[in-house]
Amino acid sequence: MEALDLIRTLNARPAVRSFNDRSVPLEVLRQIIEVARWTGSARNRQPWRFIGVSDKELLEKLGALGAYAQHIAAAPCALILLSADNGFQDTEFDLGKVSQTVTLAATALGLGSCLATIYPEANVTKAATLLRVESGWRPHHAISLGYPGAPMPGKRAITTGRLSTLELLSTHRL
Ligand SMILES: Cc1cc2nc3c(=O)[nH]c(=O)nc-3n(C[C@H](O)[C@H](O)[C@H](O)COP(=O)(O)O)c2cc1C
Repeated sequence: MEALDLIRTLNARPAVRSFNDRSVPLEVLRQIIEVARWTGSARNRQPWRFIGVSDKELLEKLGALGAYAQHIAAAPCALILLSADNGFQDTEFDLGKVSQTVTLAATALGLGSCLATIYPEANVTKAATLLRVESGWRPHHAISLGYPGAPMPGKRAITTGRLSTLELLSTHRL
């Protein structure tokens, strides 16, 4: 497959919030991080760390820490994204970049994934306590990972599809 098609195919994979029982081996998580660690970041700060969780009880507790985080509880595994609490404007942008790489690598390995936002701030603190996160790091987001199960029945609450290139791109003298 051509590079552009490959990127399009991996990137266009919809979020997966329903998983089968197959567990995600540690080796697969390592493969994902081995790819993701090459993501560029502002001043090469690499302001990210990751915690893999497969403990069911912990996944259930984490799934309660955001209004739309329940899919964590339904997943066999979650990768918690820790962002450096360093006050730099670019940190969350960097985290977005690395999570995209994680998602692409997961898709390439046949896994489904979905982002989860841990909020409000009190829940970020709760997640940090549950995960025994070192000070200086904050778990604002997580990525559910697993082998896709049957799609969830019912109407989706959020729209799918994307804006067209025409809607997205404007130019000055190209
Ligand atoms: C920063 C960010 C935060 C997100 N937080 C959540 C979340 O808390 N819960 C959830 O179910 N999906 C979450 N998502 C997934 C989005 O809802 C999903 O990417 C979007 O609806 C497009 O879905 P689709 O690719 O299936 O069309 C998040 C995505 C991003 C990029």
